[in-house]
Amino acid sequence: MKPKFFDQYPPPAGTVVEADQIDCKPLDPLTVAIIGYGTMGRAHALNLHRSGVRVVVGSREHSATGDRARSEGLTVLSVADAALAGDVVMLMLPDEAVAAVFADDIKPVLKPSSIVGLAHGFAIAFDQIQWSGPCFMAAPKGQGDMLLDAFAAGGGVPGLLAVTDSSPPEIWDLAASYAKAVGCLVGGGFVTTFRQECISDQFGEQVVLCGGVIELVQAAFEIMVEGGYGEENAYFECVHELKLITDLLHRYGVDGMRQRISGTAAFGGLTRGRRVINEDVRQKMREILGEIESGQFAKEFLSQHNDPSQGTKALAEKEAASPLAAAGRRVLPRLHPHGGSSS
Ligand SMILES: NC(=O)c1ccc[n+]([C@@H]2O[C@H](COP(=O)([O-])OP(=O)(O)OC[C@H]3O[C@@H](n4cnc5c(N)ncnc54)[C@H](OP(=O)(O)O)[C@@H]3O)[C@@H](O)[C@H]2O)c1
Repeated sequence: MKPKFFDQYPPPAGTVVEADQIDCKPLDPLTVAIIGYGTMGRAHALNLHRSGVRVVVGSREHSATGDRARSEGLTVLSVADAALAGDVVMLMLPDEAVAAVFADDIKPVLKPSSIVGLAHGFAIAFDQIQWSGPCFMAAPKGQGDMLLDAFAAGGGVPGLLAVTDSSPPEIWDLAASYAKAVGCLVGGGFVTTFRQECISDQFGEQVVLCGGVIELVQAAFEIMVEGGYGEENAYFECVHELKLITDLLHRYGVDGMRQRISGTAAFGGLTRGRRVINEDVRQKMREILGEIESGQFAKEFLSQHNDPSQGTKALAEKEAASPLAAAGRRVLPRLHPHGGSSS
């Protein structure tokens, strides 16, 4: 099929495709194998299924997520059988598992024409897989359950698209078509590279979303309690109200947020914020960006993630024992008396 969705191939970084320019026809003759039915694999599989795409799920033996896929009406095969059945093989595996699963179970059964797909740039940016055949990324800018809920409600999220240099031009159309079918072209499909996506994703996670903000909240909570303020009060100020501000920021941008808060809050923030996030903190951010770009973080993650004393589980357990986490366990049942999980 002749490529048709982009003005030029490969499209330059920064090109944006709109959902109404794209159709799902390139997927019509293809079967998509979703390898891994975790948060993101499930969202992709169910959204593709809803879009009328033929889907099989690849799962390891005795997998609870494989059982879930089966109970949700999907065909579930072993990882190798799914990779063999799929024309497009989506690696929806944790970053730390993708290298071994690809090398041991997937690559040996792929055909030269098999198209490998990813929802995140890590595997290519940090050489976790070696595949010279066609390969694309459709990375939703949103969490998996959110993508699933948004698509079921008729919407979706924006997406980032990338294709390896050795892929033929029509893989760009396939990437866009795939993104449309999973619901990650709403607000646009942004052309990027695997490396740009991966590095910006990790930097955002570490410095803002999952590192910087959380430590800012922890520190502010502890300083308030140290100063004699009640833990519940500190929790409301430092955690609960964070959502109110981020919702405004998300919807109206930084200037629109300022216009909607009190004059006292705006003045206090504008005059004090930069004392907290000062040049020293900015320098730390540059160092962290350097560690990500050099691959130092990837190496540390792959070697330490499962370490019993300093891996992710051990660090999260330590955090769960913090006064902030304990305050959350007391306050949250009051704020969400009926539960409210989306998955
Ligand atoms: N979570 C998100 O919202 C999100 C957002 C953006 C991008 N992504 C990307 O999506 C991809 C998948 O992430 P995820 O968060 O969905 O992961 P996840 O929830 O941890 O799910 C991983 C899946 O992989 C399976 N798996 C793990 N190790 C395996 C192995 N050795 N052999 C076979 N299957 C194995 C798991 O099966 P079992 O049940 O058997 O363990 C599970 O079904 C990653 O590239 C991630 O960066 C995720």
